[in-house]
Amino acid sequence: MEEPHPLPEYGPIAPLEDNLNLFGDIANLKVLDIGCGSGHSLQYMNQRNAAELWGLDLSEKQVNAAKLLLENCGSPVQLFESPMEENPGLPHNYFDIVYSIYALGWTTDLNKTLSNINKYLKLGGIFIFSWEHPLHSRVSNKDGVLAFNKSYHEEGPYDHEVWGTPAIMQQFRISTYINALVNNGFMVEKVIEDVYCSEEDMQRHENR
Ligand SMILES: C[S@@+](CC[C@H](N)C(=O)[O-])C[C@H]1O[C@@H](n2cnc3c(N)ncnc32)[C@H](O)[C@@H]1O
Repeated sequence: MEEPHPLPEYGPIAPLEDNLNLFGDIANLKVLDIGCGSGHSLQYMNQRNAAELWGLDLSEKQVNAAKLLLENCGSPVQLFESPMEENPGLPHNYFDIVYSIYALGWTTDLNKTLSNINKYLKLGGIFIFSWEHPLHSRVSNKDGVLAFNKSYHEEGPYDHEVWGTPAIMQQFRISTYINALVNNGFMVEKVIEDVYCSEEDMQRHENR
């Protein structure tokens, strides 16, 4: 099963925040983590002196783990057990930064989720997210030849093999993400498709 890769990692085989510097100085900013998991990315925010740490996650187990991890962090923490498609009571026009590290592609309703996120942000606030590249689940390496096993254009749920147990994730094209962002009030500043592979990653993902 794939291990979580919280900030400063953006997920498996993704470049590091240390190299990308997308967040900049987050001291005294209010941040919200969508799909916060066990809270390690929020802990990273705390280490960089964010003013308030907010997060939501669908899983009770993950939210409890995050509560435990952040209980003595010294900053105000608000965690919600909720699907990202719904607002569990998060304030509007409040956050300087909303981010989501390797969680957005689980959403069952991309438009609803992005519309919510846009409302949580202050005017001029930023949203940063990472997700698996949509080609990753479509292409495999067979004896050095990269082959499409499914069309890039086919969107919707699929069972992701990397997780070891059945895990239904959503396939969206890059254009779907960009258009959904624009349609929900965002301006797209940067799209990064870089890959960072350690030796271990090269072995683990050798069929990709
Ligand atoms: C790979 S983990 C993300 C880890 C976390 N962002 C971090 O930086 O450590 C994906 C998380 O998304 C959550 N998740 C999946 N679908 C969700 C949904 N529809 N709404 C909210 N959270 C969801 C899962 O419970 C899981 O904790």
